[in-house]
Amino acid sequence: MRRIGILTSGGDSPGMNAAIRAVTRCAIAQGFSVMGIHRGYAGLLENDMEELTLRSVGGIVQRGGTILGTARSPQFATEEAQRRAVEILKNASIDGLVVIGGDGSMRGAMALEDLGIPTVTIPGTIDNDMNGTEYTLGFDTTLNTIIDAVSKIRDTIASHARVAVIEVMGRHAGHLALNAGIACGAEIVLLPERPMPLEMVCDKLRETYDSGKSYSIVLVAEGAYTGFEVRDFIKANSSFDPSVTVLGYIQRGGSPSARDNVIAAQMGEEAVNAFLQGCTGSVIGLIGGQIMATPYEEAVALGHPFEERKYELLNILSR
Ligand code: ADP
Ligand code: F6P
Repeated sequence: MRRIGILTSGGDSPGMNAAIRAVTRCAIAQGFSVMGIHRGYAGLLENDMEELTLRSVGGIVQRGGTILGTARSPQFATEEAQRRAVEILKNASIDGLVVIGGDGSMRGAMALEDLGIPTVTIPGTIDNDMNGTEYTLGFDTTLNTIIDAVSKIRDTIASHARVAVIEVMGRHAGHLALNAGIACGAEIVLLPERPMPLEMVCDKLRETYDSGKSYSIVLVAEGAYTGFEVRDFIKANSSFDPSVTVLGYIQRGGSPSARDNVIAAQMGEEAVNAFLQGCTGSVIGLIGGQIMATPYEEAVALGHPFEERKYELLNILSR
């Protein structure tokens, strides 16, 4: 194997650039050349790529987003497009592909693997919802951004003795909301994994005020409700008049945290090792504190369990 391709796909996440840099420099140190493919699978299908060098990946570790660009490519989900991608990779003499992205991107890598292209996936999504890893790049940075935003909102609602409804990302998973809820001291956290009827939210708000608190933070995972749904229901069914904030893309941008960049570097190195050791067809995960390659099928079987103990802790701490 002489040449590795690398692409970023799906939602961008802080730490992707550090992973691109680590894969490139570790691969070059092992005698590979590296092709950077622009705009994920969409760019691959258009043969949009350039060679990455030691210098072209300089000065990027502190930047959020991805220098390669990213995309969601519904077209790539078809077998016809995947076969075309295999031809394009072969014509470019790319013998193996590193995919940095979320669960959907990993499914794309699995499809290419099945068609004979060795692939490894580095988990990159702020949602931390991927199979075969306890951690995905970007999660820590996003949590810190949420905590910073909630702290600012708290100053205002504490001054006005109000309820703040704050919607956070996470797609179908509540990992961001759960961990942010613990870290921010939210009074109520709404998660898709533990559905709570909105009548109960109103009851809990009354209990909170009866217990002596003058303001409340309701953190809503987007997979459970929209922030506006929650605000409108509370307003219509109680005496509270909540403010609503949808944090949106603020959560996905920004300079990566130290944790994200260090893990990105380690995952990048391990991805190159997977090519050297013939452990392709795998996701490079963090499991029990170790960075390791897990075959795709095993990773899918492992899943990404909900953190039940943290949920119980949240419920104790939020009283
Ligand atoms: P993420 O990787 O962050 O989960 P998406 O779910 O949008 O983001 O997936 C990114 C891209 O991966 C999709 O636009 C598509 O090109 C590809 N993809 C997603 N699911 C599949 C699948 N089942 N098979 C092949 N490719 C897929
Ligand atoms: O997967 C990352 C993520 O930011 C999710 O949290 C969110 O649901 C989704 O992407 C938003 O996607 P888009 O950028 O296409 O609106």
